[in-house]
Amino acid sequence: MQTNNQPKLTLIGAGPGDPDLLTIKGMKILQTADVVLYDALINPKLLEYAPQAECIFVGKRKGCYTYQQDQINELIVSRAMSHGHVVRLKGGDPFVFGRGSEELEYALSKGVSTEFVPGISSALAVPASQNIPITQRGMTESFWVITGTTKEHKLSKDVALAAKSKATVIILMGMGNLSEIVSLFKNEHKEQLPVAIIQNGTTEQEKLGIGTVETIEAVVSEKGLSNPAIIVIGEVVREREILTKIKHTVEAV
Ligand SMILES: C[S@@+](CC[C@H](N)C(=O)[O-])C[C@H]1O[C@@H](n2cnc3c(N)ncnc32)[C@H](O)[C@@H]1O
Repeated sequence: MQTNNQPKLTLIGAGPGDPDLLTIKGMKILQTADVVLYDALINPKLLEYAPQAECIFVGKRKGCYTYQQDQINELIVSRAMSHGHVVRLKGGDPFVFGRGSEELEYALSKGVSTEFVPGISSALAVPASQNIPITQRGMTESFWVITGTTKEHKLSKDVALAAKSKATVIILMGMGNLSEIVSLFKNEHKEQLPVAIIQNGTTEQEKLGIGTVETIEAVVSEKGLSNPAIIVIGEVVREREILTKIKHTVEAV
């Protein structure tokens, strides 16, 4: 099939899970899509903005065919040529551990014009949605966002460096390497440092575990926490209790 529509790819960050955390720009462009390719972490409600489009699931889900990255790249280009405007919907912000630039580069190399719409990254929004400010004046001067699973399926070496600092440490895709993460912080004698783990943040399936470097593994077992989750390590986690208390007090007035 050929189309008279101009081949185009728009890569849109879908936000962390709550459909209302899609940007207005993202929503407007989604309404013009001919084809939408979406990942596993995308809230299906977002597809309601594109009832006219062919929607293709290209994420990883048990029991579903798993597309490899080069197959997704090919699909973007072939659908742009045959249908016109392809929207690639990716979780959070596609430039944060999302391989977004690879898809844009491939499409450009094949002569497909591209546009990018940033999204709200889970790295920032998920802690925030749980009343955890990732910086706090007088407490933390920086934050690290680190992958817990590199290309080689290992914990990033940056975690050991971050553990030495006073920064807030936010780890994505780290649940499989939680023991190693805990050991690195114990090596720095930070057993009492607070830790929060938020699974499926900003969605109806959200689960939360709060502990310290010493206790967090037991909390994870007790609450049955698993992927997709964000691990937040730092003094700022204590702020949650204060902010939550204030919120409840205000609500009660
Ligand atoms: C491949 S990374 C993509 C991150 C995405 N580009 C972003 O900016 O949020 C996927 C990981 O992000 C984290 N993640 C994404 N959405 C999440 C959510 N709603 N709750 C908790 N963690 C989430 C998890 O660590 C998950 O394994």
